[in-house]
Amino acid sequence: MKNIILQVESIPDNVVENSILEINTRDVGYFTHSFFKYPCKFIPQVPKWAIEKYTKENDIVLDCFAGSGTTLVEAVLLNRNALGVDFDKLSQLLCMTKTRLLSRREIQSIKELLDGLFIKDVNLVPNLPDLYNIEHWFCNETIQELSYLKYNIDSISNNNIKNFLLVCFASIIKKVSNADENSPKPYVSSRFKKKKYLVKDLFLKSVNNYLEVFDKNSNIHIGDAKIISQDARNIGNQELKNKIDLAVTSPPYINAFDYVRSLRLENAWLGFFGDSNISSIKKNQIGTEIIAAEVYKKEILNTEIEILDEILNKIYLVDKRRAYVVLKYFQDMEANIISVKDLLKVNAHYIIVVGDSVIRNIEVPTHKILIEIAKRNGLKLVNTFSYIIKNRYLRIPRADRGGFIKYDWIIDLKK
Ligand SMILES: C[S@@+](CC[C@H](N)C(=O)[O-])C[C@H]1O[C@@H](n2cnc3c(N)ncnc32)[C@H](O)[C@@H]1O
Repeated sequence: MKNIILQVESIPDNVVENSILEINTRDVGYFTHSFFKYPCKFIPQVPKWAIEKYTKENDIVLDCFAGSGTTLVEAVLLNRNALGVDFDKLSQLLCMTKTRLLSRREIQSIKELLDGLFIKDVNLVPNLPDLYNIEHWFCNETIQELSYLKYNIDSISNNNIKNFLLVCFASIIKKVSNADENSPKPYVSSRFKKKKYLVKDLFLKSVNNYLEVFDKNSNIHIGDAKIISQDARNIGNQELKNKIDLAVTSPPYINAFDYVRSLRLENAWLGFFGDSNISSIKKNQIGTEIIAAEVYKKEILNTEIEILDEILNKIYLVDKRRAYVVLKYFQDMEANIISVKDLLKVNAHYIIVVGDSVIRNIEVPTHKILIEIAKRNGLKLVNTFSYIIKNRYLRIPRADRGGFIKYDWIIDLKK
């Protein structure tokens, strides 16, 4: 890679192939982008660039690894229609809430509802989340406060209001828990004593901050957004075949980030999944580490992609299971590319944002391998360039070396 780094405020319309951009913007939390600290988000400037370059108003934009909904939010702000796919139910809740404006009347109702949300009816025993050692994660007082708050939110009948309050609820879970605030993966530090936060104070702060966004923007017009599937490997939806104008996404990185484990406290409190079914949920995650022993005992398969086969054989010599983790990642991504291609219009673009990885000290140039996979499935490579990730929270911890993935690659493909 050439080492010339271009300083830019946002991604220029035309970028020279293989160049490296350093995007110098602090403006990453506008509109609803600041709702909930979802791990490994990309900056809004990336989907914005693709949407402005390749679509016009009312077109359809898809993100098949929607996460916190960065693409969907950018698409609706630019008056496009946004479609999302993600297997995480918390992601689906965020996507829906962040792309739908609350009406003046709903904002007023929320303000009137707030006091009632803290009522503790002693005749009630609210459900506890499915966490085996809940006292490890939360003190008793916090467990009680959160249980009643969740119970009261659940009894609201207006879904827009309920979802908004559930996002506010989810956004305080990590802070009021005993878990370290700065680590994306929940763990309780034995060295540092955690500051104690009150559920009511934090919840009201989050409601007020998030409401202000809707209050300020109640007169703007934005596009529609919908979740259409839960599995990026098989999006289905035959009625959308050849209908999508642009797909832009950042899939998980190989072996780098376990979304299921990272978001388990929030998902358990929301009742989406818990400790008793976490393993079955993890199996569907792209980049899953769950590979059965009878699978990885077998010889590693030939993928007929030269650089991938070479890497798989090298990893297999030192770690059979890891070699299968890598193989499964690329098989899953191939299924995704086929599924997205099917939905794209002819000449529409698929923009994939991904970082390379290092597995057992062996470099895996993920972006190059994805390009080969895309090409053998009939997509054309239009451009590829990278950018430096400046915001620490947005960086993805590299599981294998404890370092950080420095660049993200933007791959621009065309049907
Ligand atoms: C890098 S994150 C996307 C972040 C997103 N670009 C944002 O800005 O918030 C990858 C997402 O892929 C999702 N994911 C993992 N496996 C999936 C699958 N099989 N189908 C759909 N989504 C999946 C994870 O839940 C996670 O939200």
